[in-house]
Amino acid sequence: MLTISCSINDRPYELTIDPRASLLDMLRDQGLTSVKQGCGMGECGACTVLVDDVAVNACLYLATWVHGKRIRTVEGEVKNGQLSPVQQAYVDAGAVQCGFCTPGLIMTTTAFVEACRDKFRNPEDITPEDIRRAHAGNLCRCTGYDTIVQAVRQSLGQPASAQDLTKSSPP
Ligand code: FES
Ligand code: FES
Repeated sequence: MLTISCSINDRPYELTIDPRASLLDMLRDQGLTSVKQGCGMGECGACTVLVDDVAVNACLYLATWVHGKRIRTVEGEVKNGQLSPVQQAYVDAGAVQCGFCTPGLIMTTTAFVEACRDKFRNPEDITPEDIRRAHAGNLCRCTGYDTIVQAVRQSLGQPASAQDLTKSSPP
């Protein structure tokens, strides 16, 4: 066992963990059950969280690697009882069916929107194809991809496009 320090959703943690533990197991052991285990092998994205604002697959990420780092999960995106703009966009677009993929998708979208903002990308220049490529690591078994793209567009400040509703391929 070894002890690590990290921040999870802006709260400091000191945790004694098995050095073989995944970040997925560590977070779920802390009650953060939004972090889902789907495939457990880096294929589905259901376990996506942010480490220092970068989206990672928590099932493939050793818990020891987060020592000194900042972790964000979907639970922490709610501030003062208010959904984040990305969370609200998923609600508004009706982009949630069974919801299993949703926490991971929301964290991928959050990282994508923040990276676009940090790079001063003009939201109007970001195409649905850019969005689909950026979310290609997140699979939705309910296949609600059109509304997911709409949610990302709303998160970027783009108007919803009728074109999104004509596509059914994965992001
Ligand atoms: S559970 Fe981690 S990518 Fe599927
Ligand atoms: S909403 Fe069911 S897996 Fe995506």
